Amino acid sequence: MADIQIIDAEKRFGGNHVIRKLNLHIRHGEFVVLLGPSGCGKTTTLRALAGLESIDSGEIRIGGRRVDQLPPQERDTAFVFQLYSLYPHLTSFENIAFPLRAARVPEAQVRSQVNEVARVLRIEHLLNKRPSALAGGDMQRVTIGRALVRRPEAMLMDEPIGALDAKLREEMRAELRRLHVENGSTTVYVTHDQVEAMSMADKIGIMNDGVLQQYDSPTRVYDEPANLFVAQFVGSPIMNVVDCVCEAGGSGMAMRLAGMTEPFMLGTRAAAKLKAGAATELALGIRPEAIGVSRRPSPGAVAARVHLIEPMGAYDIVDIAMGLEHGCATLRARTASQFVSAQGDAVWLSLDDSRTHFFDKRSGLLLRAPA
Ligand SMILES: Nc1ncnc2c1ncn2[C@@H]1O[C@H](COP(=O)(O)OP(=O)(O)OP(=O)(O)O)[C@@H](O)[C@H]1O
Ligand SMILES: [Mg+2]
Repeated sequence: MADIQIIDAEKRFGGNHVIRKLNLHIRHGEFVVLLGPSGCGKTTTLRALAGLESIDSGEIRIGGRRVDQLPPQERDTAFVFQLYSLYPHLTSFENIAFPLRAARVPEAQVRSQVNEVARVLRIEHLLNKRPSALAGGDMQRVTIGRALVRRPEAMLMDEPIGALDAKLREEMRAELRRLHVENGSTTVYVTHDQVEAMSMADKIGIMNDGVLQQYDSPTRVYDEPANLFVAQFVGSPIMNVVDCVCEAGGSGMAMRLAGMTEPFMLGTRAAAKLKAGAATELALGIRPEAIGVSRRPSPGAVAARVHLIEPMGAYDIVDIAMGLEHGCATLRARTASQFVSAQGDAVWLSLDDSRTHFFDKRSGLLLRAPA
């Protein structure tokens, strides 16, 4: 079993505190993506798992066995880098076979394992070619083949497809996912691309400045971001985060954004979240697709004005001004293509109650309704 556990790991490079009290439990067979901005400590975490970097304190366990003091070759992990690191003078076959030859595996077994990996990766037709004759995606497939061929307990991948063009990345995303399903090895995959993370992961660990912000399924990360950082790192366009003021009013809770004359009246689920915390400074968090846009007034919908329309093909992203004066809040909503026709049009907005979030601006934390 290749359960991976990181317990209270810390890492400093001189005065640079790169990993801070990191705790992560990756279950056997899971595909976990570490996601975060440049410099947040993703590669360092992965290298620490592989044994290419030491940790200052804490523990790393693979399959229950403590490994943080062991050299890389005793950890049974395989590492795939962003840049292909193939031997230029060897064929694809020999590149893939290399780790087996280094381990003095008998020739017949080398042949069968290389062929099996080539079959899974669909590169049988490339086995006799040298790297210079391969396209970028194929080179990376061969690189992955070389990592897989030893059947490691854990696959560690650092932006393996980051250097490929957009179309090929899309193809490779699906392929790596398929490979994982077939192969089943516990995988830790590093990227700063949230689309990769959302589409491939069983679980996403979002890091910022060496601190794990949230560790959850893609759906949970998207629907219930633990804090403002996660809310604004995942999703395209990102979640609307706007200062708001809430007060008891009328028949329930009223919420006002800068510039609004009429407030939004909150439903019971959104209001319950507010009751939970004693936050004094609040931000509303709502995804563009959780904002209902109507061209006619309707009960409970709030009047606003179209500010900008961004056609995306399949849908439009519409910037909506919540008041008339300069400095009023704007919300970005997602509508059907050409649903609103022009800048300045009047529209009426309603918020999906269950997808209306609030953050405490001081701590950045999501307010949750009491269980
Ligand atoms: N060998 C090293 N010596 C000194 N500092 C290092 C070393 N390796 C990484 N760092 C620093 O540690 C921090 C985290 O680096 P790391 O490579 O883990 O980030 P990352 O999340 O992988 O970023 P990127 O998305 O740019 O690859 C950075 O500030 C980096 O400069
Ligand atoms: Mg990195």
